[in-house]
Amino acid sequence: MLSYLRGDLSLLRLSGAQAALEITPHGAHLTDWTVAGTQPVLFLSPNAVFQPGKAIRGGVPLVFPWFGPKTGDPRAAQHGLARVREWDLESGTVTPEGECSFVMSLADDESTRAAWPHAFHARFTATAGRQLRMALEIRNTGAAGFTFEAALHTYLAVSDARRIRIRGLENVAYLDKVDGGARKPGESVPIVFTGETDRLYVDTASACTIEDPGWQRRIVVSKSGSRSTVVWNPWTEKARAMADLGEGAWTGMVCVETANAGADARTLAPGGSHVLEAVIAVE
Ligand code: BG6
Repeated sequence: MLSYLRGDLSLLRLSGAQAALEITPHGAHLTDWTVAGTQPVLFLSPNAVFQPGKAIRGGVPLVFPWFGPKTGDPRAAQHGLARVREWDLESGTVTPEGECSFVMSLADDESTRAAWPHAFHARFTATAGRQLRMALEIRNTGAAGFTFEAALHTYLAVSDARRIRIRGLENVAYLDKVDGGARKPGESVPIVFTGETDRLYVDTASACTIEDPGWQRRIVVSKSGSRSTVVWNPWTEKARAMADLGEGAWTGMVCVETANAGADARTLAPGGSHVLEAVIAVE
């Protein structure tokens, strides 16, 4: 395993015959998955900041235990506490078949309990070859039940967000964050971006296909343990306002997030666990 510093964070990189996979303990955040001989599938912003306490723009931020702003606490960090905590490396291995795998874990401590008063154990497993398989397991290690949201906030690299099409969410209702969270009926056609888009698709277990004519590739995101999917692209104005993205970079990304958000928040009894899984394949 290669370990190196980027900004103030240490990055861990595995290379196998099938793919390379990179993660930082900061948030157990994947920063690269590249299938051998092809261009990266995960988008990482050229302006991403690698600093303790900050979320990295791109890759796969892990969202837990709340998605977006915390209900009833507008001062709390957006998207939960997990993406800015230091996770433990349980293992980093390359299989004889050339797949790379990281297992990372995070348990509650004084600082997490100050932000969210529950005992938990989170384990993130990422295995990459020609496909990337991600699993986020949340276990309730306390004496009382809790309810949480989570997401694999996957940034995918595309040739031009204005030219891609996303299939798989036709006729699925969504909450439109660009329109104050209004609930809208699903559209009968694939998603094409024509402006800022920030949607929480509800009650869907469907796989999504991102068709990218510019790079002549299709990215398929399949999932389990999830009934919500978030589709996000900031477009020009919002990207300009985000220093770690910037005006030029937003066309190269789209987020298709495997989530448990909103009405899909999960409740765990003491001892209970839940696994949120996504498999990303490139065709
Ligand atoms: C998406 C949200 O999941 O993440 C958006 O739906 C949000 O509303 C985006 O802007 C990025 O969030 P952040 O906290 O990483 O800037």
